[in-house]
Amino acid sequence: MLSVALVLVFLSCGILAWRRRNRNKDEPPPLPGALPLIGHFHLFVGNSSQLWDSVKKLCYNTLDADGVVSFYLGPKTVYFVTDPDDCLKIASTCLEKDKFYKFTKPWLGEGLLTGDLQIWKEHRKLLNPAFKQSILDGFIDIFNKEARRLVKNLEVEVDKGPFDQFAYIQPNVLETICLTVLAVDFTDESLLNIEYINALENILKCVVERFQTPWLHSDVMFNWSSLKRRQDECLKILHNVSNTVLKKRKAEYLNNNLNNGTEDTTKGLKFRPFMDLLLELAIEKGAFSDQEIREHVDTMLFAGHDTTATSLMYMMLLVGSYPEVQQKIFEELHNVFGDDDRDVTKQDLSQLVYLEAVLKESMRFYPVAPVIIRRLDQDVKLRNCTLSKDRACFLSSYGVHRHPVWGPDAEEFKPERWLDSETLPKCPTTFSGFGMGRRICIGKTYAMMTMKIAMAHVFRRYRVSGNHLLMTTKLDVLLKPISGHHVSIEIRKNKT
Ligand code: HEM
Repeated sequence: MLSVALVLVFLSCGILAWRRRNRNKDEPPPLPGALPLIGHFHLFVGNSSQLWDSVKKLCYNTLDADGVVSFYLGPKTVYFVTDPDDCLKIASTCLEKDKFYKFTKPWLGEGLLTGDLQIWKEHRKLLNPAFKQSILDGFIDIFNKEARRLVKNLEVEVDKGPFDQFAYIQPNVLETICLTVLAVDFTDESLLNIEYINALENILKCVVERFQTPWLHSDVMFNWSSLKRRQDECLKILHNVSNTVLKKRKAEYLNNNLNNGTEDTTKGLKFRPFMDLLLELAIEKGAFSDQEIREHVDTMLFAGHDTTATSLMYMMLLVGSYPEVQQKIFEELHNVFGDDDRDVTKQDLSQLVYLEAVLKESMRFYPVAPVIIRRLDQDVKLRNCTLSKDRACFLSSYGVHRHPVWGPDAEEFKPERWLDSETLPKCPTTFSGFGMGRRICIGKTYAMMTMKIAMAHVFRRYRVSGNHLLMTTKLDVLLKPISGHHVSIEIRKNKT
């Protein structure tokens, strides 16, 4: 017993000395509450709801400490940043994702979200053209069709009281991503079924659990764990879907090219979707292996749908919580469409200014990716301190979105703040719902278009009510609701 105590004391002193020696003179202030040996790790244990409570507290502590703090995960010093200018500097200087992202590599591999820097640079350049405006404009018909499907599916909930809107939004957004980005139609098949959605939810839980269990950070230990076996079960299901997507579209692509030269006329699509760009670059230029294509498909399926669906879910809830906001949305929709139930056009999108303000405010209020992590590949000089190379740096959009630069009403849901560009904060990172710096979301314009079209259809047809103040949340990689997020809907009878 005595010898164990002596070893622990010896280790604690060693870690303390190590931390002191490795502190640079210009280090940001340390977060109080470090324990011997584990540092601040105790803040990150518990279930995903407790984890989110701790991260939220960390955001406010960092805001109080002028936007940057350091803290300890065992022997490691890491940083947490909520100042928009400092976040911008870090996100533009250091493009490498942190090692914690490697926990998702068996699933997403070198896809854009998790890819190593050199691969990312090459692939992002090749894939950017798949998200340019002219391609996205070609998706508008599908966005409208899918929005109508959502409205139709919601009919069964009319006047029935509170229900989980996410259960309707999530499959709808998945279908939309498949039809547009991946150019495959699974609407009449059950490939993207509840099994896929459960596997996705479970793999995100595995990633968080691994983060919370320091001895499983090492691959050797992880490979022996029951967590790895749970993760493998999820991977089987998730990879089955991405492989099926790849096989199906590759066959269609080869068939089309054989029949029509290089012109793609599959199902009358007027655009070249992301998936076909991947296949073209793979088949004609050897730019991607089948495995790399599969990793990009897995990335798009996850990064494209879970974020969009969760953001829409929060938006419906927030709009349902503020009748005056809902009324203004409806008045704007009525000004643009009158009583006509026609499709939303590209021109309409630019007129739906208030709807866009509500979307952005919802994403500011509940950012679905409240924290991202960068690896510092160089020392970074910030406004008031210097961060040291080779450390992890947590950049928090949740914190940034509550920074004093938003004004004294930063904690209020107020879409009007988006209507006057003169009074909006100037630093581009002040709104970081889509990430920060050069690794910003590739699908951001796609997401805004599809969300605006979906919500225009929903709010034209339904009056929504809910109360976001009753909601409890958790951090399962993304910020997700646990309870209290359900809404009720009724059909709008007339122009009121
Ligand atoms: C409301 C919807 C969305 C939100 C809130 C969102 C949010 C984000 C955020 C915060 C990041 C940065 C992650 C990081 O730095 O670790 C990101 C990256 C990414 N997102 Fe999105 N996203 C959305 C929609 C989409 C869509 C529709 C797609 C594709 C169809 C997409 C694909 C990606 C990809 C591939 C990356 C990695 C980009 C890179 O590193 O080059 N996202 N997204």
